[in-house]
Amino acid sequence: MLALVATTLGHLQWQRPDHDGWIKTDLATAGEQISAMAQRIGDSSKIPATIRPDGSLFLVNLYDWRSGFFAGSMWYLYEYTRLPMWQQQARRWTAALAPLQWFTEHHDLGFMVYCSYGAGYRLTGDTAYKTILINAAKSLCTRFSEKTGTIKSWNSFKSWTNGTVHHYPVIIDNMMNLELLFFASQVTGDPYYKNVAIRHANTTLKHHFRKDYSAYHVVNYDSSNGQVTAKESAQGYAHESAWARGQAWALYGYTTTYRWTNDKRYLAQAKGIARYLMKHPNLPADKVPYWDYHAGQPGYTPCGPNAARYAQGTQPRDASAAAIIASALLELSDYSKGQEKQEMIAFAASSLQALHSPAYRSADGSGGGYLLQHSVGSIPHGGEIDVPLVYADYYYIEALLRLQQRQAKP
Ligand code: GLY
Repeated sequence: MLALVATTLGHLQWQRPDHDGWIKTDLATAGEQISAMAQRIGDSSKIPATIRPDGSLFLVNLYDWRSGFFAGSMWYLYEYTRLPMWQQQARRWTAALAPLQWFTEHHDLGFMVYCSYGAGYRLTGDTAYKTILINAAKSLCTRFSEKTGTIKSWNSFKSWTNGTVHHYPVIIDNMMNLELLFFASQVTGDPYYKNVAIRHANTTLKHHFRKDYSAYHVVNYDSSNGQVTAKESAQGYAHESAWARGQAWALYGYTTTYRWTNDKRYLAQAKGIARYLMKHPNLPADKVPYWDYHAGQPGYTPCGPNAARYAQGTQPRDASAAAIIASALLELSDYSKGQEKQEMIAFAASSLQALHSPAYRSADGSGGGYLLQHSVGSIPHGGEIDVPLVYADYYYIEALLRLQQRQAKP
């Protein structure tokens, strides 16, 4: 186990462990479960996303925002094991996503294409993958507006509280799609994609955050003049609350945007978000957040009838948010020093150990073939509550690999 010890200053510090047995165990389990799931599904045009209430697999097609995570997990397993069978499987589930290079109907191409083709290109150098990534970056940029300075996330969004239909919604999750654009500029030498990403990151910096570094989920713009018309939530408890996964996307998004740009404003933002998340008074002791940091708290108006059902009582956790935050913190720790760095690593290691425990992890396939249980898709939409999610597993695997790499460093 990783050791958390109190320093002479009384701070918790992560100590290099003697072994990484638990990480190896979980990566081996991931391999067994993903391989069994792939065999069970057979057809690579079908992609696991979660489970149904009866425990059966819920499969999606390539146009769902989650379509790249299964292939992405396979690429991570290939990177970890270097077994040809993982490359074969990853190539199969990646190839099925090829039509996405022309897809322009929503903003999630970064998730869908960069987690799959991006990983495949990084690990194999396959130039056909590079072409698809560049085409996808072009497709994503069709959703960019000079007027708003953002990439439009969804084609419309209906407010939970007043029924207004907004036609230029931008969600904080969109920060996760920018890596695809930075990559496209790097490999083509054309700064256009990178400039779009930077404009989007800057506009989001201006409008999406509160003073305490928590992020709104949805910011709606007037496409004719770029003015903000409303700041709301689609998947959180309330418009003014901090939806857990949205905060995770914000942290991860500004960390990667700093990596690609070296712009200190993004680093400062990521660190501010990290402090907010690590020190939040409503964070449970095991560091796996509730689905919303303010769920059920007085003073917040729930987003619709389903969220209102969570005005009282025990709140579900979101293991997916914990995994994304841990993975992001491990990267952010590389750009930090001293006590701050140690706190980020300690926090990430501790939350990953919690996810590894039987409280969250199904070791034997009993979680429908997924590794982690207890994530939340969207409570306001009334779906995927306290279930396994493919992206929780993806970011858990990524975080384990990042932790292991950091342990391997002297
Ligand atoms: N839109 C991605 C998510 O649900 O987190």
